[in-house]
Amino acid sequence: MKKFLFSEIENFITEKERQEVATKVMSLKDDWKWIGDYPKYKVLEEDLCVNQYLLGDAIYCLYDKDYESINVELREKLKKEFKGLYLNLITKLPKHFGVDIKGCKFYDDLPVPGFHVFHGSGEDEEPFEWHQDTSLANWVDNIYQDMIYSFVSPILLPKTGGTLEWIGSLNKENIMPYEYGKLHIWHGLLKHRIGRHTIADDESRITFQGHVYIDNNKLMHVFF
Ligand SMILES: [Fe+2]
Repeated sequence: MKKFLFSEIENFITEKERQEVATKVMSLKDDWKWIGDYPKYKVLEEDLCVNQYLLGDAIYCLYDKDYESINVELREKLKKEFKGLYLNLITKLPKHFGVDIKGCKFYDDLPVPGFHVFHGSGEDEEPFEWHQDTSLANWVDNIYQDMIYSFVSPILLPKTGGTLEWIGSLNKENIMPYEYGKLHIWHGLLKHRIGRHTIADDESRITFQGHVYIDNNKLMHVFF
């Protein structure tokens, strides 16, 4: 398998698929969860992005091993509603990482990759928090953090676009712009954050995202 800091799957979804996914995410508005409704974030209320929602639970929003808080019904609904998108993921990711990868599956008891949704407010958002994507190690035993990768495919971007900000050598801040159709992948230990953005009040920013872990047996697991 190959290892990298950044990589991308160029033709991850077609323009038609992307638009269908965008329409579907919008139609599932009742299932979006405001980030402040997660107990872990409630306490930070004044710092919260008031326009930030998730479709599907992400484990970083939950307390460690709080399996009870995972909306299992929604997880199964997402699997059904976004079947084509997950099929793309599960077939294209192993191919991208290399021939020796044995396959790619969901964890039975963790959330499946989902969506971040920002509703426009017309105001500049506060910068997001720098972090590494290592939450999996708090949920599953014997995780080798070096084998966690993160991915994003932009589904709907504001006119000003969407980016990932990351810290490189000598603490230099860098910006990676997202492009429609691509699956952007980066190493989970890279220090990064959601790019600062301004979204007009009639716009939304939707990204399909999640993480992949490659275990000792070269089997890939995807999760949110
Ligand atoms: Fe992250």
